[in-house]
Amino acid sequence: MVSLEFPVVYFGGDYNPDQWPREIWHKDMELFKKAHVNILTLPVFSWALLQPAEDVYNFEWLDELLDMIHAQGIKVCLATATAAQPAWMSRKYPEILPVDFEGRKRKHSGRVNFCPNSPVFREFSGRLVRKMAERYKDHPALALWHVGNEYGTYCYCETCEKAFREWLKKRYGSIEELNRRWNMNFWGHTVYDWEDIVAPSGLSEVWRDGHLERTTFQPMVLDYKRFMSESSLACYKNEYDIIKGICPDIPVTTNLMGAFKPLDYFKWAEHMDIVSWDNYPGLKDSPGSIAFNHDLMRGLKGGQSFLLMEQTPNQTNWHPYNSLKRPGVMRLLSYQAMAHGADSVMYFQMRQSIGNCEKFHGALIEHAGHEHTRVFRECAQLGQELENLKGVIGARLKARAAILFDWENWWAVELSSGPTVQLSYVHQVKKYYEALFKRNITVDIIKPGDDLSPYALVIAPVLYMLKPGVAESLKDFVENGGTFLTTFMSGLVDENDRVTTLGYPGELKELLGIWVEEIDALEPGMCNSIRKTQAAEALSALTRERYACAMLCDVMEAQGAEVLAVYENDFYAGKPAVTRNAYGRGRAYYVGTDSEEDFIQELLEAICDECGIIPDFQVPQGVEITQRFKGDTCYTFVLNHLTEKVIVDLNNLTGKDLITGKTVAQRLELEPKGVAVLEEK
Ligand code: GLA
Ligand code: ZN
Repeated sequence: MVSLEFPVVYFGGDYNPDQWPREIWHKDMELFKKAHVNILTLPVFSWALLQPAEDVYNFEWLDELLDMIHAQGIKVCLATATAAQPAWMSRKYPEILPVDFEGRKRKHSGRVNFCPNSPVFREFSGRLVRKMAERYKDHPALALWHVGNEYGTYCYCETCEKAFREWLKKRYGSIEELNRRWNMNFWGHTVYDWEDIVAPSGLSEVWRDGHLERTTFQPMVLDYKRFMSESSLACYKNEYDIIKGICPDIPVTTNLMGAFKPLDYFKWAEHMDIVSWDNYPGLKDSPGSIAFNHDLMRGLKGGQSFLLMEQTPNQTNWHPYNSLKRPGVMRLLSYQAMAHGADSVMYFQMRQSIGNCEKFHGALIEHAGHEHTRVFRECAQLGQELENLKGVIGARLKARAAILFDWENWWAVELSSGPTVQLSYVHQVKKYYEALFKRNITVDIIKPGDDLSPYALVIAPVLYMLKPGVAESLKDFVENGGTFLTTFMSGLVDENDRVTTLGYPGELKELLGIWVEEIDALEPGMCNSIRKTQAAEALSALTRERYACAMLCDVMEAQGAEVLAVYENDFYAGKPAVTRNAYGRGRAYYVGTDSEEDFIQELLEAICDECGIIPDFQVPQGVEITQRFKGDTCYTFVLNHLTEKVIVDLNNLTGKDLITGKTVAQRLELEPKGVAVLEEK
């Protein structure tokens, strides 16, 4: 049985000793001990060293390292090393190399530079992993398996094209069905034979327009994304299954990347024992947008704890401007991860490399090579503090509000030709998320089809694609007293991006009590405004009469719903913009336009009040509070994102601050970027 009750909060991260001579390894071990490191991830990119030629494997150096690490009492997150194949392999078996979006065959380079459907790649990676698993299965340092690294490359080679056809055959059964589901009579694109189908790339139906991906044939491209996500997943699974066959009790993961568009992580998580992810926010990312990614990652396995597999101890190298993490910020962001469900704090990288693109990426051990640096001191202090946080491991958050998130929906929304190129799915989702985050309301991120019964409020921004059964589950939820909110661009298409002919928003019409007749897109710089109606007077959280709106305006009619706000301008002035429908014992809200954030903030405040989701604490803006629960114990994380001292009112809470060991009652003073973790039994 895989146990996720880790003995410690894992603290450490990616270690690349293969870039260093042996003397340095010994020095590193001393420094790791000083920093309270208890886990090292390796050898992530060492395939070339482990298998220098087709029939030559060389594990001795790794044996030596694992023993050396174990002798320090440090655990190993053993990486399968398959993210970058050796040069000889690319040369001898060029079929491994992918073909890019433009149709160019890639040469050996970079990493994750392999065709996910290449049988040769699967064979070689499988062989390496089997050898590693057999060799290290009983190694006492082995704590976790880390498969590959940051999967995500799409390939358009002939192998993939052929495999795509097979995938389609399975999905649709017949060419007629495919023509129907892809609506191929459009532009006379009817196909007669599976062989007529080509991979949709820059050579065929897709082109890039700045950062946008445009296409004339959405269903085809959507299916290719599904197929590519599954193809990389199959690569991962190939390794996962081999490991499981040999080491059934050791948890296996791969490092995900938050809201990373190319891969449908909900599907991936089904095959991971524990989710782990790499958190690299930009300096300007708000605490809420970072928290969103954590909650998304926690949501992948229904609220189970995850691992923070990587973050930088300091700057990154790959943003255009790589600012230093200001004193205290790394610590604060580490606790923020834990506040949202992480059971580890791990870094990339332990020792800073001297050459190539990551030489200016932050590290525990910087180029100076010793521990007398700001970054080392901050890491070591954190490492020591985390030794007191073992109790938190496995503790869960409890949410009464959920946001629906769906990768396929994301793809479909942003592939759509019209009504506007301005619509970003994640941006819309985050607008709603941030509104709750600012009030310290815990949110679960769930996928369509998940059980809604634990929640009082479910929000589905831009639920453009309605999958079978989802409308029913939402109706049931509201019928039984739940509150649902959705927005413009919802209920419009099926899984093949075919528009509903029931009138918008399709299967959600009855639940919402509206009919959207037209959708108006405003050019950048244009706006409209919405005005509160009489019916909204009871929503006292709405403090203003009027709020701006832009980008998209639904022109709609209420068919049973109450109108809470109307447009003020244009030919649809006076028509409904925001509605609420009583349905069964619950209510369904519809926001038909992209309103300014204040409106969303206040509307959600009103809705939360209505459904009894009241924040437990009233704290200054910029102070974040979450709670994790285990048995009878509650862990309250209090995080000060501000650059000034704050006094936090804790109501009646009395708990032991696990960081200082002191008991805190009712009030807490936090330094700028300060943190407290209060344990209350
Ligand atoms: C990713 C990778 C690491 C490293 C870091 C640098 O997260 O997984 O190998 O390249 O980025 O930020
Ligand atoms: Zn390929």
